[in-house]
Amino acid sequence: MYTDIHSHVIWGVDDGAETKEETFRMLREAVADGIGTIVCTPHITPGIYAFPEEKFQDNYSAANEWIKENDLPLKLYQGAEILFTDATPQMLRDKRIPSMAGSRYILVEFSPAEKMAVIMDALQQITATGYLPIIAHLERYSNIRTTDQVREIKERFQAMIQINARSLFRRQPLLRRRFFSGLFQEGLVDFIATDTHAAPGRESCMSKGMEALRRQFGAGTADAIERRPYGVILKNLSDKMVASFSNG
Ligand SMILES: [Fe+2]
Repeated sequence: MYTDIHSHVIWGVDDGAETKEETFRMLREAVADGIGTIVCTPHITPGIYAFPEEKFQDNYSAANEWIKENDLPLKLYQGAEILFTDATPQMLRDKRIPSMAGSRYILVEFSPAEKMAVIMDALQQITATGYLPIIAHLERYSNIRTTDQVREIKERFQAMIQINARSLFRRQPLLRRRFFSGLFQEGLVDFIATDTHAAPGRESCMSKGMEALRRQFGAGTADAIERRPYGVILKNLSDKMVASFSNG
């Protein structure tokens, strides 16, 4: 069973599912796609849009109840996909943003064309709050294009790297394919996730992505990545240093 650490499955809180029916359909699709654990990660844009925290809690609880009623082999956790803004560090310090399954890790994204220096500074600010970054869909950033850059990010900030499953089987330009090869050959990728939204073309595709990974980079690479999410997320659930999400 896969762990999907990036999913816009909870309805009514971002551009993911719009209705509970869509959420329920997506949960069934996740199970059919071989996923056993989902960290629900709605978009949060600190200082830009207010995040509907209460609605997220309510709809998350309702999704869990529905899973129970329907006896689905699926476990949900809370998280968020946080756009890094000037307001992000303070909101993290105030514990107003869910971390990944209550762990020290947060899932963070940047504007696709963000400058490398700005990304490095943001990662520095995140680690100064005591959280550690998981960089969402690393392949999306036009200024991160070499494995040396990625290694530096990982070493300096204990950052972890997430790639979208879809990027593994979608046609990619040659330079991107070379970059991917380097990332996997050097063991720099920590998570493959679906980043699933309700919209057509953005549905759950974990199995397809992992198959493509196996085909292109070998079973060993795929197996190592499959095992990692359990290690990181579940280990940190019992970490006494975890930051808890408060509604304050
Ligand atoms: Fe996302």
